[in-house]
Amino acid sequence: MEQITAQPSVRSKHLWWQNGVIYQIYPRSFQDSNGDGVGDLQGIISRLDYLQWLGVDCVWLSPIFSSPMADFGYDISDYQGIHPLFGTMEDFDALLSEVHNRGMKLLLDLVPNHTSDQHPWFLESKSSRDNPKRNWYIWHDGNAEGGLPNNWLSVFGGHAWEWDEVTQQYYYHAFLKEQPDLNWRNPEVQEAMMNVMRFWLDKGIDGFRVDVMWHMVKDQELRDNPPFPGSTFDPKDLIYDHYTPVYSTDQPEVHEIVRMMRAVTDEYDERVLIGEIYLPIHKLVTYYGQDNKGAHLPFNFQLLTLPWEAPAIAMAIDEYEGALPAEGWPNWVLGNHDKPRISSRVGRAQAKVAALLLLTLRGTPTIYYGDEIGMRDVPIPMNEIVDPQGLNMPDLNISRDPSRTPMQWNSEINAGFSNHKPWLRLPFNSGRVNVDKQKDDKYSKLHFYRKLIGLRKEHAALNVGCYRPVYADQQLISYVREWGDERFLIVLNLSHRPAYFRPRQESYSGTILLGTEVERIGMQVEDVITLGGDEGLLIQLS
Ligand code: NOJ
Repeated sequence: MEQITAQPSVRSKHLWWQNGVIYQIYPRSFQDSNGDGVGDLQGIISRLDYLQWLGVDCVWLSPIFSSPMADFGYDISDYQGIHPLFGTMEDFDALLSEVHNRGMKLLLDLVPNHTSDQHPWFLESKSSRDNPKRNWYIWHDGNAEGGLPNNWLSVFGGHAWEWDEVTQQYYYHAFLKEQPDLNWRNPEVQEAMMNVMRFWLDKGIDGFRVDVMWHMVKDQELRDNPPFPGSTFDPKDLIYDHYTPVYSTDQPEVHEIVRMMRAVTDEYDERVLIGEIYLPIHKLVTYYGQDNKGAHLPFNFQLLTLPWEAPAIAMAIDEYEGALPAEGWPNWVLGNHDKPRISSRVGRAQAKVAALLLLTLRGTPTIYYGDEIGMRDVPIPMNEIVDPQGLNMPDLNISRDPSRTPMQWNSEINAGFSNHKPWLRLPFNSGRVNVDKQKDDKYSKLHFYRKLIGLRKEHAALNVGCYRPVYADQQLISYVREWGDERFLIVLNLSHRPAYFRPRQESYSGTILLGTEVERIGMQVEDVITLGGDEGLLIQLS
């Protein structure tokens, strides 16, 4: 496997998190080193050469901290401790220096909205009404009749308020009852979490992905959320999506908290603050903050949620480009541990087109582990579901297990992930779909991803260059990326039928640098370009 190295031409004034590629690892599922069927830090270390070969610049780890694992680590009982399943603090230190030795960066997941109900803060808080930490969480007597304080629901189903018999009050939990929400209006909470950030930043990590950033502050008056417009539902269903969470999320005061987090991040050199935010574009961009002092990258999830249709995608890209604040740096995400995998969502045939889109749009791309080999959602039999979201709402079929299955490394037992039965099953075809099978196959997805990442490193235009939409129709989207003398045209056929690229204003000619059809690479194109169904082309313009 030859290494692709960056060309000096890429040097620009941009920072690493602007021109790098982020790779998300779900630690339970990347590589098991100690034979317990669950991935761990030593396992990740053993796979860093692969990531370097792939060419990614930055690794983001989903939570690795002490946790009862009610929500697989998003319920933290010690923000400064490593869960023994994943290893020790020494393992973490080794991972950090191994990542840095390879010239890569490491991001951790920060989960500030809620703790585990086993966190000492909550244990204290619930111990009595006059405990000094009582006000660290959101406690309430209930309405006049002693019923629920309001109609807020948990994202994971059911009411968001849990009654505590001992102290005779309700507490609020946006997710599981084992994940009580912190009260971010309390300055002591703010300070405690800023110190958690400093602890990891002092260790030398390169930044955070902040969990549910838009949830952190709730309406002070706890007003009822209105029903989702037009929805006809039975209020007894208690389904989160039946309401519009206008009072339980995205409150104006959250921006002050984000600003505080950014200020801590800025106490250190070149660290990054990324926010997990599922909101419409016009609201999402407010998380860049006033004077750009909010999140560096409010995660842009449009490619995860929009219908995979050329007009919708073209429109979304342009809207996003148009809505970004002057200094706001764009970013794009194609997959994560909460959503169906891209290759299942858009289909195998479109998976390379999706990769071409992710890696040629303007902005920082995030790749979800395994997408680079075309891993798909794995069917998990009902009796093997472990995700609380899936277990709590069985009728909705929204378990996240299918997109969290072990990385498929090779054709050996358990796809090389573990020598023990993995915590989630592998697909039947893991002997065919894996890193080993693809790494030297020039037709493979892995090869395609690696090539694209390499081209981004080589050509500043593809990386930090300007973006200009060219043309979109029912099948195609196309745009130009430009930097200095270099210009690239990207044409993507999002449909399964052949299509014609027929720009009306300008004519384009150049050489195909990369395409979903390997045989076409190196060919010249000019004027009208004929594309096959599911074909995408990256053309260096002459
Ligand atoms: C968002 C995380 O991505 C998800 O996995 C988790 O369940 C919730 N936040 C609660 O922390």
